[in-house]
Amino acid sequence: MEVVLSEKCFGEYLNLIHELTGITIAKNRTSMIEGRLRKRVSTLKLSSYEDYLRLVKQDRSEQISFIDLITTNETYFFRTPRIWDYLETKFLPKWIAEHPKQVFTAWSAAASSGEEAHSLGILCQSFKDKHPNFLYQIVGTDISAEMIGLCQSGAYSGRSIESFRKTRTPLFDRFMRLSDSEEFRVSSEIKSRLRFLQHNLFRPLPTQDRFDLVLLRNVLIYFTAKDQETVLSLVEPRLAENGVLIIGESESLTHIRTQFKPIEPFVYNSKNASSSMNKAG
Ligand SMILES: C[S@@+](CC[C@H](N)C(=O)[O-])C[C@H]1O[C@@H](n2cnc3c(N)ncnc32)[C@H](O)[C@@H]1O
Repeated sequence: MEVVLSEKCFGEYLNLIHELTGITIAKNRTSMIEGRLRKRVSTLKLSSYEDYLRLVKQDRSEQISFIDLITTNETYFFRTPRIWDYLETKFLPKWIAEHPKQVFTAWSAAASSGEEAHSLGILCQSFKDKHPNFLYQIVGTDISAEMIGLCQSGAYSGRSIESFRKTRTPLFDRFMRLSDSEEFRVSSEIKSRLRFLQHNLFRPLPTQDRFDLVLLRNVLIYFTAKDQETVLSLVEPRLAENGVLIIGESESLTHIRTQFKPIEPFVYNSKNASSSMNKAG
């Protein structure tokens, strides 16, 4: 007998997804959700989507698998080249001139499988060539436990490294080590400056860190305007003085109420910050 996802049950899944992750899924995405749930329902040998819904509601460990299943984790190294050019040519040179003795801190706040945090690590390590005293620490977080596992393992292959390898070959050859067949790992000098933890953006970060740079890219699109405001209100106090927030290229803060103001395409700083970083470049 074919298992069918009824409209009522689909509606309950949407509510549960929102409750657990803040993600709002459009009502016309039934087939996408059904596709993602079908395999799990079959693996667990359940007879209906209703049974799986009941299980997820009751069982905390199944909620972890459900979140892994529901989130969209597409990412790759050096996604949106203009952002990395901005960081390399404007932001970091200005930052080091203003903070010669400090440790640069950054947060990749929807890290997925870690390509973004590792790209930043590579950029920082190469920046260190010109500025040997430059020190950096990068934190990567994501709501998906499976993704945090991938971040920690740090092994990459296929599409995720394809464009990096082609377009930034000297950096790739220098910092990526072939580990196993087609898998590459970021060199250990970089790895030691990265740490990853599971975190839901709708909760306060469980550490006291404040960051010079927050990458919050390609995640706001999954939230309503009101939920975006909630997330940004939790991120803003985590920016260091003159810290910068970068969002994804298909995202905008124009129509929502936040403490952030634009300083470059996709780059923002806090209205509470002093003005020196506004003049970057
Ligand atoms: C499309 S990926 C973006 C990855 C990377 N930032 C980039 O731009 O390439 C979106 C990530 O956001 C994560 N995510 C979704 N909702 C979240 C939440 N409430 N808290 C933390 N991470 C969340 C997903 O698990 C997914 O890995």
